[in-house]
Amino acid sequence: MSKIIFQDVHKSFEDGQKVLNGVSLEIENAETHIILGRSGCGKSVLLKCLLGIFPINTGNILVDGLSVKNKHDYGNYIKKFSILFQGNALFDSMTVVENVEFGIKQVRRDSSKIIRSIAEEKLLSVGLEKRVFDLYPAEISGGMQKRAALARAIAIEPDILLFDEPTSGLDPITGGIICNLLKDTVKKLGVTSLTITHDLKVAQFLSDRASLLNKGQVVWTGHTGEMKNCQNDFVREFYNASDVISRK
Ligand SMILES: Nc1ncnc2c1ncn2[C@@H]1O[C@H](COP(=O)(O)OP(=O)(O)OP(=O)(O)O)[C@@H](O)[C@H]1O
Ligand SMILES: [Mg+2]
Repeated sequence: MSKIIFQDVHKSFEDGQKVLNGVSLEIENAETHIILGRSGCGKSVLLKCLLGIFPINTGNILVDGLSVKNKHDYGNYIKKFSILFQGNALFDSMTVVENVEFGIKQVRRDSSKIIRSIAEEKLLSVGLEKRVFDLYPAEISGGMQKRAALARAIAIEPDILLFDEPTSGLDPITGGIICNLLKDTVKKLGVTSLTITHDLKVAQFLSDRASLLNKGQVVWTGHTGEMKNCQNDFVREFYNASDVISRK
């Protein structure tokens, strides 16, 4: 459980492009929050700023009072996070179980037997069968890869789970199964989670609170159920467009 605060965050790149233009947002302890927004609006940049991968120009990002800008505390800051990357980011040259072990070894020193048993327990907890543990990522389906990446993400026992477009590249049925798994996992672990997506259905299923990013600012924060009747022009545009797509 962790509280995340974005305070008037600005981020521009060397080419002069202003991507984040004063993002302010508070995500409570154990909250499941979604960042929605059109392609190119700065969602991934926001995530990279949160992780300290991109330095911010002005403003601040605080996690449990620790600032992303404080270099002395960065070690304590960054170990609160675990991320499920869009492309899963599994190592092709390692088996499924070795991928999870690799994650665990980053945060704890234990005998290889203990690390193996933790990895296996996490893999089983995300619904992977023993027969896939020794296969390579290329030998398992996209849905299984997502599960393996989730097992690696939770194996380090983070306070905050970040999901970047968790259903992209999956068919709708597998995407639905993975969404259910993510929701159950977050609930079971009691962690704070932040999901980035442009899929309104995913947002509505996973959480009840979301923020909409447009032109580098949070233009709306609220319950996903309220979007339907929201008067904000951009919310209406986003919601209606999503509605058209889902009716096709
Ligand atoms: N390293 C970088 N250097 C310069 N500009 C960048 C860099 N990374 C991202 N940008 C710019 O920031 C803007 C926002 O990109 P970002 O990847 O955050 O979009 P997004 O909302 O995640 O889109 P999508 O939904 O398609 O993933 C884009 O115009 C992109 O070109
Ligand atoms: Mg992105």
